[in-house]
Amino acid sequence: MVKLSSLLGTLFFVLVYITCPSYSIKVYNVISFGAKPNCRVDSTPALFNAWAAACASIDSATINVPKGRYLLGSSLAFKGGCKSSDITFQIDGTLVAPADYRVLGKGNNWVSFEGVSGVSIIGGSLDARGQALWSCKLAAAGTNCPTGATTLSFTNSNNIRIHGLLSLNSQMFHIVFNGCQNVHVEKLKIIAAGDSPNTDGIHVQLSRNIVIKKSNIQTGDDCISVGPGTNNLWIERVTCGPGHGISIGSLAKDPEELGVQNVTVKKAVFIGTQNGLRIKSWARPSTGFVQRVRFLGAVMKNVQNPLVIDQKYCPHNINCPTQVSGVRISDVIYRGIRGTSATPIAIKFDCSSKNPCTGIRLENVNLTCLNQEAQSFCTNAVGKTLGLVQPNMSCL
Ligand SMILES: *[C@@H]1O[C@H](CO)[C@@H](O)[C@H](O)[C@H]1NC(C)=O
Ligand SMILES: *[C@@H]1O[C@H](CO)[C@@H](O)[C@H](O)[C@H]1NC(C)=O
Ligand SMILES: *[C@@H]1O[C@H](CO)[C@@H](O)[C@H](O)[C@H]1NC(C)=O
Repeated sequence: MVKLSSLLGTLFFVLVYITCPSYSIKVYNVISFGAKPNCRVDSTPALFNAWAAACASIDSATINVPKGRYLLGSSLAFKGGCKSSDITFQIDGTLVAPADYRVLGKGNNWVSFEGVSGVSIIGGSLDARGQALWSCKLAAAGTNCPTGATTLSFTNSNNIRIHGLLSLNSQMFHIVFNGCQNVHVEKLKIIAAGDSPNTDGIHVQLSRNIVIKKSNIQTGDDCISVGPGTNNLWIERVTCGPGHGISIGSLAKDPEELGVQNVTVKKAVFIGTQNGLRIKSWARPSTGFVQRVRFLGAVMKNVQNPLVIDQKYCPHNINCPTQVSGVRISDVIYRGIRGTSATPIAIKFDCSSKNPCTGIRLENVNLTCLNQEAQSFCTNAVGKTLGLVQPNMSCL
């Protein structure tokens, strides 16, 4: 039976192949473009040329990066305008940044995609070796350090899929989506030290229809940060910690900003993070807003500030002339949130006096603070509770 079925399977495959002769996948192995899995020879030109070939193909194209460590000695920008609308990076190896952080540190990005459509990255590791730059920044005289590069960025790109990628020790942000549509990210692992500066896991802005699922993000800054102009963002089963948690904002950095609309964060787990689910805006005038946010089924484990809305963000009280935020926050639901707060104030809604938060709803929230009762704090927040909500929200 086994033999017969496999024979039938082969026949079927052959038939499909014969009846659809025009369908094929071109495979480009970076080794044949000169890449060396020895972590010594710079493989940047090989990857660039493999992309150029895949991009010029009229068929689906796969770029293979076999096992091994490949030095990517300079920043690598993949540009769109491709004939192929389906290019997959199948990565079994690790791309490694140069040991000297100054080589990439002054540029914005290490690996970037701009204006591409239909690009997938399957598997692989990106090791940005950011530790030396973090040490530079953390040192007392850290003012001469370069800003650092984002490890992987997508700008003005559509139909992007990332599956099973590991991003290690980014200099700055690990992954950025800016001006993108239809992005699906799954089974990512992102790792940087808990005290590493500005190593956000995933940053999204000016983008719509983004899904981030089943990922584990350990960083020194935000796990996922959501910037202005984000629409229809779905985050599910993401574990964060260490780091600063999932944050909508900072918003109102610029006076003219697009709003954030329709964000769902479902079944997130926060372990020892500074914040859990946060919405944050500068105390400055702004055209921005946050509307229709769903925080569902989160677990907090020893989180310093589990639920936060902070509209008074203004480090050192500089550049916040009116000290109030113009960002309008409305229709935010917290449902089925449980766990422990590391500080007595488990819920803090500190909204703008000019634009109070409206339509805040808490349903079945149970946050405790070790052996004492947790508390809530609100200013300028309007909303209601449903079911058991602890701490009590008498401040709403
Ligand atoms: C909100 O976004 C989700 C995807 O994240 C989408 O399925 C849904 O239709 C959107 N809802 C609205 C009201 O735009
Ligand atoms: C709330 O959480 C605490 C600690 O996790 C637990 O002991 C308590 O039973 C929970 N309350 C409800 C009503 O589920
Ligand atoms: C609600 O919690 C506050 C502390 O956050 C407490 O002072 C107040 O007595 C509580 N109110 C009720 C009705 O339990």
